[in-house]
Amino acid sequence: MKNKWTIIPASLLLLTGCAQEQNKATEPEQSNEQSTGQTETATNANESGQSESGTTESSNQEEPLSAEEQKHAALIEALPEDASSTDWNLILVNRENPLPEGYETNLVEVEPQKEIDERIVEPFQNWVAAAKEAGYQLYFASGYRSVERQQNNYDRSVNNYMKEGYSEAEAIEKTEEYIAVPRSSEHHTGLAVDIVDQEWIASGKGLIPEYDTQPSQHWLEETMADYGFILRYPEGTSDLTGINYESWHFRYVGKENAQYIVEQGLVLEQYIELLKERETSTQE
Ligand code: DAL
Ligand code: ZN
Repeated sequence: MKNKWTIIPASLLLLTGCAQEQNKATEPEQSNEQSTGQTETATNANESGQSESGTTESSNQEEPLSAEEQKHAALIEALPEDASSTDWNLILVNRENPLPEGYETNLVEVEPQKEIDERIVEPFQNWVAAAKEAGYQLYFASGYRSVERQQNNYDRSVNNYMKEGYSEAEAIEKTEEYIAVPRSSEHHTGLAVDIVDQEWIASGKGLIPEYDTQPSQHWLEETMADYGFILRYPEGTSDLTGINYESWHFRYVGKENAQYIVEQGLVLEQYIELLKERETSTQE
C-alpha cells in the first residue's frame, strides 16, 4: 500500500518538502553486529463585537475555508475519537524527542535475544503467525535496543564510513541517515521491530530499502495496520522523520491509530501534531 502524500495539508508545519535520496547504508541487525480556520471572523469589529461606529453587530460573515483548510479540518474531524497524544503506544522518539529519562519498559523475549514491550507481544505474534499462514517466513532482525547498544551500532557505522575514506563529519551524516542518535531511537521503547524475510536475510542483503522489492514486504505493508503497526519511515518522508526510507522498520501504535495513519498517508510526527491540535482546541 502506498502512502497518499498528496492529501496532506500544508497547514501542518511538518508537512513540506519530502524529497529524499536513497542510500545504501542500512540499520544494523541486532543479532549481527557486523551489518550496518477558521479564518478571522470579526474583521471590522473590535474584540467585544462593536463596530467602529460603536454599534454592535453580529459579524457572522465568515470567510469560506480554503480547500487546504477544509482538508485539514476533515483530518482533525476524522481522528480516532479516543486517541490522545499522551497514549503509551504513541510515544514519539526521534532526534527532537529523545527517550524520556526514567522511561520504563517491561520486555518479553519473543526469540533468543530479541525482546519487545510486553504490550505488543500478542499483536506481533499474531502478525507473524498470519504471515506464516500466507506463506512468508519472516526474519525478526531487531526489537528492543538499549541506548548502549544503539551507541555501539552508531559508533561502528561512523568508524566504518571513516575507514571507507569519509571525513568524520561525512561519516556522521551518512550514519544518521539510517541510525538514530543514541537515546533518539524508538527501538529503546520496545515498540519497534525490524522485519525482513528468511530468504532475503539468507541472501546476505540485510536491511536495505530494496527489501521492498519482495512480496513479503508488500504483505507486511498491506497487513500492518490490522495488527496495529505502521511503516515508521516511509519513502520520501525523511524531511519529516529525520530518517531515510526503511522498508523493514515497523512501529506499534495500536490498530485504530495505525489504520488512520495508513489511510491518511501520514507519518507519526504528523499524526501526533493533529492530535495535539485537537487537544489544544478542545481546551480553549
Ligand atoms: N534505524 C532506526 C531509525 C533506529 O536506529 O532507531
Ligand atoms: Zn529499526
